[in-house]
Amino acid sequence: MTQKNNNQHDLARVLFEQQFQRSPDLVCHAPGRVNLIGDHTDYNNGFVLPAAINYGTTIAISAREDNLVKVYAHNCEQQTNEFCLNDIAFDQQMMWSNYVRGTVKALMQKHPNIKGADFVVTGNVPQGAGLSSSASFEIAILRAFSQVYKLDLDGISAALTGQQAENDFVGCNCGIMDQLISAMGQKNHAMLLDCKDFSFDDAPIPDDLVLFIVNSNVKRGLVDSEYNLRRQQCEEVAKFFNKSALREVTLAQLNSAKEQIDHILFKRARHVITENARAVTTLHALKNNDMATISNAMKESHISLRDDFEVTTKEMDGLVEIIDNILGSNGGVRMTGGGFGGCVVALVPKTMVDQIKNVVNSRYENEFSLKPSIYLCTATQGAFR
Ligand code: GLA
Repeated sequence: MTQKNNNQHDLARVLFEQQFQRSPDLVCHAPGRVNLIGDHTDYNNGFVLPAAINYGTTIAISAREDNLVKVYAHNCEQQTNEFCLNDIAFDQQMMWSNYVRGTVKALMQKHPNIKGADFVVTGNVPQGAGLSSSASFEIAILRAFSQVYKLDLDGISAALTGQQAENDFVGCNCGIMDQLISAMGQKNHAMLLDCKDFSFDDAPIPDDLVLFIVNSNVKRGLVDSEYNLRRQQCEEVAKFFNKSALREVTLAQLNSAKEQIDHILFKRARHVITENARAVTTLHALKNNDMATISNAMKESHISLRDDFEVTTKEMDGLVEIIDNILGSNGGVRMTGGGFGGCVVALVPKTMVDQIKNVVNSRYENEFSLKPSIYLCTATQGAFR
């Protein structure tokens, strides 16, 4: 366990003792994630290549004998929430509590006999930055309940349960990537996930590279509605081809139907189909330590997300350009996650980290009047692996 996570464990334990005047039964942790390549492909049954990171959510928990769940969220403004397992309703006032409510409700569909719990939650994944603070929250809750109640819950089932909470309770139609990598990530590796059958293949991140993440600190706007719209557009094209998902449509098929498909829908589908291919190419390139290919795939991915899928912002495009100018083919850089603000990710040789940090700090603020936040990350173990 890293030093940072050790501190989070200690903090969660202390907070629990303060809130509940006893020791927790256990403390557990689930990581956030960064996606190296393969964005907006997961809900099209496609390929993604994320890594779990050393920023995450930590929970200290104790079982209760009744059906109450009492939560203290250290990083939220309104910090305490309480509900009963017999009647789990959406909370209009305290949005964060809906992740707990939705996750516990989804868990109870397969495990109806669980009892309540007291728990505290603390975390260091920046919220709304595209690093999956919510998925790491859901997976940490599932890990905590599964340990405290000795449930037979594997990583894939946990991921599906977390996704169900988002889709059915919170109201975001997200895919499975974030929950799967938070549950199943592998230390020092990125993971190619096939979102059609949940099979995966780990690729080592070379020792001399750093996961260099920069938050544009642009407040993300219209995220859920634009995200859900993109998903709908993809599904429309799949339907046009009579397929269950865009994964089943080839680029040749798409191109040959260009005149019959609305121009915007055509671009959306082209992004997904080409992005799937880039994710697979990047997996092999990582395994072969072929930086030129990785670099190129990440560059094309960003352009495709910018021009065809239209989910970047001018600040994210600016950051990518600033980093790419210095990095060239020594590394790769692109936006990461859902888009509409948030982070860019770069694979940066350790020897270039300071130089890139300095340039990002000076140029980004100059050009966009915003301060960037830089996170130097390593790939960590998922909560269920
Ligand atoms: C968000 C969603 C994921 C995925 C990405 C885009 O993070 O939660 O399921 O669709 O956006 O790749």
